[in-house]
Amino acid sequence: MTRTALITGSTRGIGLEVARQLKTIGIEVFITGRDATRVAALRQELGCPGLAMDLSAPEAPLELYDAARLALGKIDVLVNNAGFNRAKTPIVEVTGEELDASYALNVRAPILLARQALKDMALRRSGHIVNVISSIVRTRAENYSVYTTMKQALHGFTGCLTKEGRLVGVKVTGVYPGGVDTTFRANARPDYLRPASVARMIVQCLTSPEDVVVHELLFRPMVENNF
Ligand SMILES: NC(=O)c1ccc[n+]([C@@H]2O[C@H](COP(=O)([O-])OP(=O)(O)OC[C@H]3O[C@@H](n4cnc5c(N)ncnc54)[C@H](OP(=O)(O)O)[C@@H]3O)[C@@H](O)[C@H]2O)c1
Repeated sequence: MTRTALITGSTRGIGLEVARQLKTIGIEVFITGRDATRVAALRQELGCPGLAMDLSAPEAPLELYDAARLALGKIDVLVNNAGFNRAKTPIVEVTGEELDASYALNVRAPILLARQALKDMALRRSGHIVNVISSIVRTRAENYSVYTTMKQALHGFTGCLTKEGRLVGVKVTGVYPGGVDTTFRANARPDYLRPASVARMIVQCLTSPEDVVVHELLFRPMVENNF
C-alpha cells in the first residue's frame, strides 16, 4: 500500500522540498500553507491534494488533520515543519501578542497535529512523526528569546512523544538544522544549508531501515560555529 505524508509549511522552503522529494519516491503527499495561490499551483505541479489555512487559528490543526486523512485515506507520516521567527527582538521589546503568535504556530499546532497522528498511528502500530525544530535549542543568542523558547518547548514535547510513540510502534524524529537559505529570513544566505539538502536529510530518516529510528538529527552549514 502506498505510504502517505502530511507536511505542514509545504508551500515554500524546507517543507516544499520534503514534499517534492517524497513525491519523487512514490509517497503520496498532502501540502499546506497559508498562501492559497501557492497551494493551488503546487497541487497542479505535484498532482497532490492540499489545503490553504493559517495553522495559528484555534481549530486549524484539527481541521487540517481531518482534511488530510480524508484525502489520503490514512496518514503514515506527519512532518510538523511550519514555523516562523518574526524578527530579532530584544527581551525588553517582547510583546504578549508576539509570544501568543509564536506559540500558536511553533508549539500549539505541531502538538495538536502530533496528538491526532499518534492516536491514528497507534491503531496500526506504525507511522513516523517528524518535528522540525532548530539547532537554536543548543545555543544562546541575544534577540532570539521568543523563537528559542518556542523551539525549546517543541524539543521538550518531542522527547516525550518519542517515548510515548515507542510504546505503540510509532517512530519520532526531532530535526535540528542550523541556518537554511529560505524565505524564513529577509536576506538570502547562500552560505547556509540549501532547503533541498535539509529535505534530503529528513527523507533519509523517513526511509531508514525498518529496525532503525533516528531520534535526533542535528546538522549545520560549515560556516556556523555557534555550538
Ligand atoms: N530557515 C532556517 O534557517 C531554519 C533553521 C532551523 C530550523 N528552521 C525551521 O524549519 C521550518 C521551516 O522553515 P523554512 O526555513 O522552510 O521557512 P519558510 O521558507 O519561511 O517557509 C515556512 C512555511 O511555513 C508556512 N507557514 C508560515 N506561517 C504559517 C501559518 N501561520 N500557518 C500555516 N503555514 C504557515 C509557509 O507557508 P505560507 O507562506 O503559504 O503561509 C511556508 O510554507 C520552521 O519550523 C523553522 O523554524 C528553519
